[in-house]
Amino acid sequence: MKDLVFEIIGDILIIREDTDEISLKEFAEEKIQKHPFIKSVLLQTSKIQGQERKRDLKYVMGEKKSETTHKEHGNSFLVDLSEVFFSPRLSYERQRVADSVEKNEIILNFFSGVGPFSIAIASKCKSCVIHSIEINKAAYDYLIRNIELNKCQHEVIPYLGDAFDIVPKMFIGSVNRVLLPLPLDSDKALPIAHQSLQNGSGIIHWQITEKTSLKKIDKNIINNRIKNIPYFSNNSINYEITELRLIRWLGPKIAHIAVDLSFIAREHY
Ligand SMILES: C[S@@+](CC[C@H](N)C(=O)[O-])C[C@H]1O[C@@H](n2cnc3c(N)ncnc32)[C@H](O)[C@@H]1O
Repeated sequence: MKDLVFEIIGDILIIREDTDEISLKEFAEEKIQKHPFIKSVLLQTSKIQGQERKRDLKYVMGEKKSETTHKEHGNSFLVDLSEVFFSPRLSYERQRVADSVEKNEIILNFFSGVGPFSIAIASKCKSCVIHSIEINKAAYDYLIRNIELNKCQHEVIPYLGDAFDIVPKMFIGSVNRVLLPLPLDSDKALPIAHQSLQNGSGIIHWQITEKTSLKKIDKNIINNRIKNIPYFSNNSINYEITELRLIRWLGPKIAHIAVDLSFIAREHY
């Protein structure tokens, strides 16, 4: 039997590598037998694409459905995999970010999706508020359902719309920490994220992709990249890279990287 690339989200198995129909069915049958909790097998027929980071899926075996509930570190996430982005491979990164949050923080998540980062934080910090923006109406609707499902209505505040419109109108100079979990718009988002920090101080969790063949990502690469964003090259803004980790490889030489930036306002020096 062919070994195919796959991922399991809730009770749905997604085959991420196309092949002939017989091999697909054989693979699906074997997985369902081995893991009886799998109720549906789908084939991913496109990349994760577009601003909303969605993918095309085709039915292979089992129940004809694309909605499931994925459990992660005691939280439950209801998702329709044909309508929204969701990746269990970000689970460690979510816990790492949630563990770094301190009491009473005001947090802004520019790109919330169905809420996994915001809810992971809310379940660890009951005195935090996480303002959570999402542009995809379907993802926003699941965000609301997941807030209810995980009982974090007091901590996670959802907003439907474009973060690049909402943040300048509502959040300038108002938060302690910003989450930017969308590598696609990472350089564009960083200046507004910085402007939303209280007194220019706080933490930004910046996710980026970088073309590299290096096993270890160098801080110089990140510093040069920030220097090339006009907002940062034109202003003397002090920051420190406090964490730099490879989340995963997205292609043979495309690294998905988490960068934690700690900003300190000049008057605090
Ligand atoms: C890579 S997904 C990450 C979602 C979530 N943080 C997670 O880890 O599952 C990025 C999300 O940002 C949303 N998005 C893209 N551009 C946006 C924008 N300008 N404003 C608000 N949300 C946006 C997409 O619809 C998508 O749900």
